Amino acid sequence: MLLNGKIAAQSLQKKLKATLDLRLEKGLRAPHLVAILLGNDGASATYVQAKMKACQEIGFKSTVLHLPENTSQAELLAHIHALNADAQTDGILVQLPLPKHIVEKQVILAIDPKKDVDGFHPENLGRAVIHLPTFLPATPKGILELLSFYQIDVQGKHCVVVGRSHIVGTPISILLTRNDKIGNCTVTLTHSHTQNLETHTRMADLLIVAIGKPNFITADMIKPGAVVIDVGLTRIADERKKSGYSLVGDVDFEGAKKICSAITPVPFGVGPMTIYSLLHNTFLAYEKAQDDLTEKGALEEPSVFF
Ligand code: GUN
Repeated sequence: MLLNGKIAAQSLQKKLKATLDLRLEKGLRAPHLVAILLGNDGASATYVQAKMKACQEIGFKSTVLHLPENTSQAELLAHIHALNADAQTDGILVQLPLPKHIVEKQVILAIDPKKDVDGFHPENLGRAVIHLPTFLPATPKGILELLSFYQIDVQGKHCVVVGRSHIVGTPISILLTRNDKIGNCTVTLTHSHTQNLETHTRMADLLIVAIGKPNFITADMIKPGAVVIDVGLTRIADERKKSGYSLVGDVDFEGAKKICSAITPVPFGVGPMTIYSLLHNTFLAYEKAQDDLTEKGALEEPSVFF
């Protein structure tokens, strides 16, 4: 089975748009997402563009703050503080990776947790760990949504995660151990120091790969019948393509598809789900801001994945 993230995201986005349209019909303003892009990394610019396009399609307001590569830490933090204080901004994302002179952890800590639609702030990650309503990081949340959309039963299964990044590997390993419908897995988190990696990956009922090394996982490393989620998205020069590159995942798709029971394609697997999750988080931030205005206090009862 092909776990097509484009189809799943389109379906979920349609539902989210219907909910949003009810708010707009009542005369409420649209949700507003602000993306900060530092410098001129081509891949980062493409991802931010895709996020902004998705905002426009669903009816959100979106703004890109494109700052020069040599923007100082203090200037970047000043922009974030201004956005934190702006009542018309619901969600803030700073596209990673950042130039070397910027201390990423300070940037993550500077974003108001109520506007942290990437779910990177420790307050939000901590809430996720103890299963409180929060903004889940977009890619892990997208993986949960994708497994749910295709009704993949993961409870009690052995999940092996390859890669321990703060954005994907670490949070997805925690989320899948939670007592939830898409959860209750036994999780092994592997990384660059793991010995005999293939002995671990071969035991995985659910294999999640997020290390950014093209075609790193080959068919012989996969258990027959496993479900494979490929988070990798590396640009490889390809003169046959108009763009000059093709996008390659961390899993050798052609080999893996012969042995696994389900797999995400690259592109159009996890990528569109990350974008959907970002839209959903932005909508949650917006709803919470509206509720704070009316002192209603929503987000107490989680409806989908938090
Ligand atoms: N860079 C790679 N993935 C992400 C993401 O989910 N959010 C942000 N802000 N930057 C990223």
